[in-house]
Amino acid sequence: GLVLGLEGTAWNLSAALFGDDLIALHSSPYVPPKGGIHPREAAQHHASMMKEVVSRVLTEPERVRAVAFSQGPGLGPSLRTVATAARALSIALGVPLVGVNHCVAHVEIGRWATGFRDPIVLYASGANTQVLGYLNGRYRIFGETLDIGLGNALDKFARSHDLQHPGGPIIERFARQGSYIELPYTVKGMDLAFSGLVSAAQESTAPLEDVCFSLQETAFAMCVEVTERALAHAGKDEVLLVGGVGANARLQEMLRIMCEERGATFAVPERTFLGDNGAMIAYTGKVMLEHGATLPLRDSQIRPGYRADEVEVTWREEEPG
Ligand code: ATP
Ligand code: FE2
Repeated sequence: GLVLGLEGTAWNLSAALFGDDLIALHSSPYVPPKGGIHPREAAQHHASMMKEVVSRVLTEPERVRAVAFSQGPGLGPSLRTVATAARALSIALGVPLVGVNHCVAHVEIGRWATGFRDPIVLYASGANTQVLGYLNGRYRIFGETLDIGLGNALDKFARSHDLQHPGGPIIERFARQGSYIELPYTVKGMDLAFSGLVSAAQESTAPLEDVCFSLQETAFAMCVEVTERALAHAGKDEVLLVGGVGANARLQEMLRIMCEERGATFAVPERTFLGDNGAMIAYTGKVMLEHGATLPLRDSQIRPGYRADEVEVTWREEEPG
């Protein structure tokens, strides 16, 4: 059977059909005309593009066995729009719903795309920055940001310099020409904080290239430090990078070097599966369905603050903790 997956927690409305492999994937990104993402406008975008995005992938509706959707975490209005569409499709197709945790889906599609079995995961996106690993039936969050996500930190800095959204890729280009200046480095225990770093970067009078370079070096070194400690603590030997910021070549390089020094292996999924995408919801939904995790309509309310470690991971029970 096939599973239809719907993603739309933030900027990207995306649908996919998953069978034994990925069958179809179609996305419609919301690009804010100016500034950052406005939750209501993103939701309006999702509503207006829903029919187009779903019909592009729903080529064999009679073979669909479930409709999976991102239940959270994410922006309320976007989540609500996607959940409403998922409920309607589940009723129309006469198949159950599967409620997928967006963060867990990033991890699962990353494992699927790289073949990694039991990695420590650095999940670095716009709103989220976490270091996760599987332990006794759940994805434990070993460390995370205490304020804003790494991607939002980069985007915020870029906005203050009137650079276009998303700022991450633009900062990466400037950073290639930059050299190091000191900026505040904040790791508290296993957790991270980025807002002080962004403020200092914004106030710096150094050339933009140097600030971009140093912002990246500092923020990425913080992430690598926490990932390395999680790796050592959990006794694992694989590091997987997921989330939109994972596209950054310098972040990949720093993690790869850390892994080489520790005798661990590093991998990052191809671009399609790195940022928000429908395939990760369809795939995780399919694995969950195979383990009986369907969601009654009455329990299908959105979960804007849904955390990865709230999910009971029944589909990995065969593996050692
Ligand atoms: P989530 O809901 O999981 O927080 P998201 O909505 O932020 O996800 P993603 O696609 O995972 O979406 O990530 C988008 C972020 O990735 C943006 O903040 C963007 O600036 C950042 N990004 C994209 N490419 C790069 C890059 N090359 N270097 C650094 N950051 C990047
Ligand atoms: Fe995401």
